[in-house]
Amino acid sequence: MKRTIVNLPGDGIGKIVLPEAIRVLEAARFEAEYVEGDIGWEFWRNEGNPLPDRTIDLLEEHRIALFGAITSKPKEKAAAELSPSLKDKGYVYYSPIVRLRQHFDLDICIRPCRSFKGNPLNFVRRTKDGGVEEPPVDTVIFRQNTEGLYCGVEWTGPDETVYDALMTHPRMKSFASVPREDLAVSTRIFSREACRRIVRAAFEYAKEFGYRSVTICEKPNVIRETSGMMLKTGQEIAADYPGIDLWDTNIDAQMMWLTKNPESYGVIVAGNMFGDIVSDGFAGLVGGLGFACSANLGEKCAIFEPTHGSAPKYADLDPSIVNPIAMILSCCMMLDHIGDGERASRIRDAVAKVVAAGEVRAYDMMRLKGSAKAIEEGAATTRQMADAVIAAL
Ligand code: NAI
Ligand code: MG
Repeated sequence: MKRTIVNLPGDGIGKIVLPEAIRVLEAARFEAEYVEGDIGWEFWRNEGNPLPDRTIDLLEEHRIALFGAITSKPKEKAAAELSPSLKDKGYVYYSPIVRLRQHFDLDICIRPCRSFKGNPLNFVRRTKDGGVEEPPVDTVIFRQNTEGLYCGVEWTGPDETVYDALMTHPRMKSFASVPREDLAVSTRIFSREACRRIVRAAFEYAKEFGYRSVTICEKPNVIRETSGMMLKTGQEIAADYPGIDLWDTNIDAQMMWLTKNPESYGVIVAGNMFGDIVSDGFAGLVGGLGFACSANLGEKCAIFEPTHGSAPKYADLDPSIVNPIAMILSCCMMLDHIGDGERASRIRDAVAKVVAAGEVRAYDMMRLKGSAKAIEEGAATTRQMADAVIAAL
């Protein structure tokens, strides 16, 4: 059956890495039709909406998308860039990817962080005898993607109803002397059902792919209600998976441990913000933004994206130098999701071969400054990287 995939290239380097990754999919003989969805800055400027309804309709219809990256700017800056006919008409910018996650309830975010042998960006550490060792990292972060600190329930200068409600909490006494307009409040809301879904998804993944531990990474000793609910949910669900150990860590300690013994961690579960933090931390150990891929999964729709942004600095370089691997690995996650894991493995093996051979390396892998000069200094172009993966396939 031929699938239809919605392509959402977005802005900047999203428009560069997505077509390269599609070439890799095609070389792996993945049969699909692609329809392009409008999303990003151009649509904000010209229509006052970075995520037009027609794009939502496409996703409702086809339910699966590859997303490049978008450019986001703060509210005022965004408003200033609206086309003249739309200015001062009350349009307010919002991040279309955050809105997609909320609209389609893409509550499960998976961010695998696995090192490829031979990647010069891999984490290394000093051994006892002064040598250097490179422990392989294979950690998969499950981030709750829709709630917590990113749910958008926040105020600067809350109205009286909210203020009065807050003041019923005994701990608000310490803010009693602060004028209402000088209070900024961002709520951290967890729901039990969402905790169950992310924890269950993590255990299922650990079971399917043979990970021996699931770590709940929160801060229940201080943030007792929300982090506490995630941990308690973990303890309940762990009972259904006798072969998998449940660990719990605090986010701060976890960030230290990932620089000491990252190889100890298998699957990690966290709420929205801590999941964002810990996944960037682990991504840094396995090559950084050029390698960091992700899946956003909901019951009705799934969107696969590299975690990097639109990197405007590099958007206009011709030829392009950015690393397409993060996007290619995101496509592999899409293949896994639709039950084509064998093809995903073939593509990952091809990436592994290219990285191990070390002959074709994007500028980030060579630790070069990103500029057109990088090519003279031996860096591969985006296209050459994709070509190398295709050749290895
Ligand atoms: P960014 O991820 O776009 O770029 C940061 C730096 O990382 C780049 O300057 C470059 O040095 C490196 N980098 C990124 N992707 C790379 C790749 N594929 N290969 C090699 N190096 C790469 O983050 P930045 O500069 O903070 O944000 C730029 C724009 O992207 C902003 O408008 C931001 O809002 C947006 N953004 C969008 C995201 C999304 O679409 N999901 C995520 C993060 C940022
Ligand atoms: Mg992030």
